[in-house]
Amino acid sequence: MTDTTDFAALVDEEGGRISRRIYADPQVYDAEQENLFRRAWCFLAHESEVPNPGDYVERQLASERILVIHGKDGVIRAFLNSCRHRGMRLCRADKGNATFLRCPYHGWSYSSEGELISVFAEELYHQDNLDKANLGLIPLTQVQSYKGFIFGSWSAETPALDDYLGNMRFYLDMLVGRTPGGVEVVGPPQCWEVHTNWKFATDNFTGDNFHLYTAHGSIAELGMLPPDPMSLSFGNLIQAHKGHVLHIVPGPPIPQAQYFGVPMELRPLIEGTLSPQQAALVKDHAFCVGTVFPNLSFMQVMVQGDLHSPPTPFLSFRIWQPTGPTTTKVWSWLMVEKEASPEYRKATYEAYVRTFGPSGIFEQDDMENWEECTRMNIGAVAQRYNLHHGMALHVPADRDFPGPGNAWPGSYGERTQICFYGEWKRWLTMEEPWV
Ligand code: FES
Ligand code: FE
Repeated sequence: MTDTTDFAALVDEEGGRISRRIYADPQVYDAEQENLFRRAWCFLAHESEVPNPGDYVERQLASERILVIHGKDGVIRAFLNSCRHRGMRLCRADKGNATFLRCPYHGWSYSSEGELISVFAEELYHQDNLDKANLGLIPLTQVQSYKGFIFGSWSAETPALDDYLGNMRFYLDMLVGRTPGGVEVVGPPQCWEVHTNWKFATDNFTGDNFHLYTAHGSIAELGMLPPDPMSLSFGNLIQAHKGHVLHIVPGPPIPQAQYFGVPMELRPLIEGTLSPQQAALVKDHAFCVGTVFPNLSFMQVMVQGDLHSPPTPFLSFRIWQPTGPTTTKVWSWLMVEKEASPEYRKATYEAYVRTFGPSGIFEQDDMENWEECTRMNIGAVAQRYNLHHGMALHVPADRDFPGPGNAWPGSYGERTQICFYGEWKRWLTMEEPWV
């Protein structure tokens, strides 16, 4: 599949049909790497992960390992984590702090700003054959932050991050910019590998609220979900901007379920920080799940970590990093308001680790489904038949929804998935995604 026009046939936005090939075909994977992940803005790290000079974390962008490092000059940069001598992986830890970075192979050393500062046996090189000024670490083409979230892109043509996010900023602010201090990560991210195509994960995080009572049926049977399967069908599906989508769902009519369930002491801060329009949406909702195109998903949910604990909110962001057509590496962060009390930090952490992450009761259900879906879509016969994404596509938009973008009533539907796949198709076919 070298002709990019072929990709257009894989997604039928009008009818809501998706080719199984997008979840397993190596040629689709290669095109995604080139046309999407080497061009789009991709999330790398949160500034609170590298608060001090010399702090670094290793991440991945497309197929390459990326070093995000806080320089001595206070600037956070991102480089290919590869030595300029033989290409050795320079930092081999997931995170750390270093006054300089010494290559483990032959000892070339770099500053925290990425300059090559010393070379083993430097006197043996002819002075014209070691231009240290041009042998620094290879920087990402663009690095920009939004509310502490550091994104990178390998393309000089990708527009400014603010423009890329567009109206999604309105909704992101409701999650990460709702108090004066904003949010910070709690501990290092959980990181694991799933044998799934990455789009089964984003598919689940773009609006699949209707899997709860089947995929997580055993949790529902234990009484840890509301008894009526339609009770979570309210709310809205939202296309904030291009492929950036989310759904937002009200909870039961009790004060504890307002403001996404965050503690009472944080609520005046929310009212004082957000616009009245944003604050009203936060007040009226308990759940918000979505995806920043292409592969940064988030969930603001209230869950019971066990049979006896009350529903407790948590906010998590995660990257679905494709590592092959049918494998995905996940990084998942818990985030909390900087103003949060120690008691709330402990409670939200426990709710998160008991329900999501590789050992979480919800995440295990999801991963099993994504892995089996991936396996079942590899076969040549299976790939002759499209998949069905047609739920509630006929429902007209909710013109009165008090937020930007396009909104549709109800949270059970596949409209937001179709918005995501439509954008995916435009990136793969190299149509201008910005117009
Ligand atoms: Fe890094 Fe040789 S590969 S010093
Ligand atoms: Fe789930």
